[in-house]
Amino acid sequence: MQNFTELARRRRSIRKFTPEKLTEDQVVELMKAALFAPSSKGSRPWEFVLVDDPVLLHELSECKPAGAELVAGAPLAVVVAADTTRTEAWVEDASVAATMLLLQAEDMGLGACWVQVNGRTQDDGTPSADIVRDILNLPAECAPLAIVAVGHKAAERKSQNDEKLLWEKIHLNGYRHEDKGVR
Ligand SMILES: Cc1cc2nc3c(=O)[nH]c(=O)nc-3n(C[C@H](O)[C@H](O)[C@H](O)COP(=O)(O)O)c2cc1C
Repeated sequence: MQNFTELARRRRSIRKFTPEKLTEDQVVELMKAALFAPSSKGSRPWEFVLVDDPVLLHELSECKPAGAELVAGAPLAVVVAADTTRTEAWVEDASVAATMLLLQAEDMGLGACWVQVNGRTQDDGTPSADIVRDILNLPAECAPLAIVAVGHKAAERKSQNDEKLLWEKIHLNGYRHEDKGVR
């Protein structure tokens, strides 16, 4: 267990994994974090589809023209979806859960990467969400937001650098165009 600021600094998107599988205990720990996620009105509209079948991982990696290739090389993909009929805030709810997965993976010394599905399309215009829905037999009301690929890091990446923090994005007591930030 590391301090949270250090965890936030260390988390990077990991796109290359070793072939080592995750243990069942690791998967349980990972998914606990997602299930602990806060959600709008406590609605918990998420559905998580765990994929470790190499054929399915490969199919998922082709759900969009670019940016999903890494899924084929991951030992585990967590498809984060939500029931869109349960809440208008399903994107937010699923996003929080996906973020919990990224941070939990880093806390366990694993690597992870968010692969966006919602709003993306294949070259022929087919929504990536429909492609993922077909591959995994998701019901119509269940919308896939993202695929979180998880595994053992093939290589460490440098932690984020405090020098690059965009303090000018922080505004005190209202947005002021001349603000240079609170620091
Ligand atoms: C909403 C969202 C969608 C993303 N989609 C993808 C994606 O489809 N493929 C990918 O390789 N990385 C994706 N990423 C990861 C970003 O590229 C990454 O977070 C960003 O470049 C910053 O790098 P870092 O995570 O290492 O700090 C996504 C991240 C977010 C938050």
